Amino acid sequence: MAERILALPGDGIGPEVVAEALRALEAAAAWAGLALEVEFELVGGASIEARGTPLADGVLARARDCRAVLLGAVGGPAWDALPVAERPERGLLQLRRELGLFANLRPASVFPALASASTLRPEVTRGIDLLVVRELTGGLYFGEPRGRSTEAGLRSARNTMVYDESEIARIARVAFAAARGRRRQLTHVHKANVLEVSQLWVEVVEEVAKDFADVSLQHQLVDSCAMLLVRDPARFDVLLTGNLFGDILSDEAAMITGSLGMLPSASLGGGGLGLYEPVHGSAPDIAGRDLANPLAAILSAAMLLEHSLAQPAAAQRLRRAVAAALDSGARTADLLPEAAPGEAGASGEAGALGCRAMGDLVLAELAKLPD
Ligand code: IPM
Ligand code: MG
Repeated sequence: MAERILALPGDGIGPEVVAEALRALEAAAAWAGLALEVEFELVGGASIEARGTPLADGVLARARDCRAVLLGAVGGPAWDALPVAERPERGLLQLRRELGLFANLRPASVFPALASASTLRPEVTRGIDLLVVRELTGGLYFGEPRGRSTEAGLRSARNTMVYDESEIARIARVAFAAARGRRRQLTHVHKANVLEVSQLWVEVVEEVAKDFADVSLQHQLVDSCAMLLVRDPARFDVLLTGNLFGDILSDEAAMITGSLGMLPSASLGGGGLGLYEPVHGSAPDIAGRDLANPLAAILSAAMLLEHSLAQPAAAQRLRRAVAAALDSGARTADLLPEAAPGEAGASGEAGALGCRAMGDLVLAELAKLPD
């Protein structure tokens, strides 16, 4: 029986990178003897244009019937003026929340071939291999009350950062378990010197730690963690964070490895169903021009193989094919030192591969791997 996969290309460079990720996914799945049935649906701005809403009910229902969702990106300048509740991003947040995907895994490591692609010195980036475990369905993103109001002509706005102990404990367990399969070091990131919410996180994480005596636990203030990530990133193994801090620190973690175009993610917790997406956004400035880096999406497909289809060997092949493509010297524009990521001028860089060509190369490297 074929495994059903829902593709949600979304906006900007989403469709380009998802197309490459699907080709790589199908090839790696075929190697494992697995048949896929890929269906396409709309999300984000693309859905707003076609249906007037960033996520139609039917799409959620369809996602629930699938084994996994592969998403590109949402958002763009066309929808920037919309109120928060109607924006493309709301479609993605609803998907995460409605599907119960509370555990967001964002691994960041340095491919040897990209050691010099980072804006940090190679001796600083050497050995970076960390995993951000971000809580994804609570905190400031979803807390009530929220909204805007005007009283006596004075505009104000509020959001609420709220977590209960069960939400903290379940994501802490995911992070501890992940640390167990790695270097057994967990850093909990917080702001407990100011926030009651963070004080509760420290308490609950300490309680969960009792079940994971083999994992060493540290609590790190978020501001100092942001600093340490650029000073000495290799010290970190697993970072456990709430929703907002995880959003910020995962972009930072991605960038120190060389490019935001390299970082994949998996969102789990929804009883077997997983959502996979590159961490980078829709990059509207380079959309539709075959300039995007498809590797984060391809590496997200590898996470899909591992976590949703229980095919770790096929996932590993895909990662090796990506490493081989990079070893051959191939670079998309964002990976070239001269070019700022997403900069249109990067297109003319000598040696810069387009999105499709990089996808072709990964497929070629995949076919070359011994069985
Ligand atoms: C991410 C993105 C999203 C987030 C946006 C697009 C809503 O930045 O996945 O990191 O803030 O979670
Ligand atoms: Mg983000």
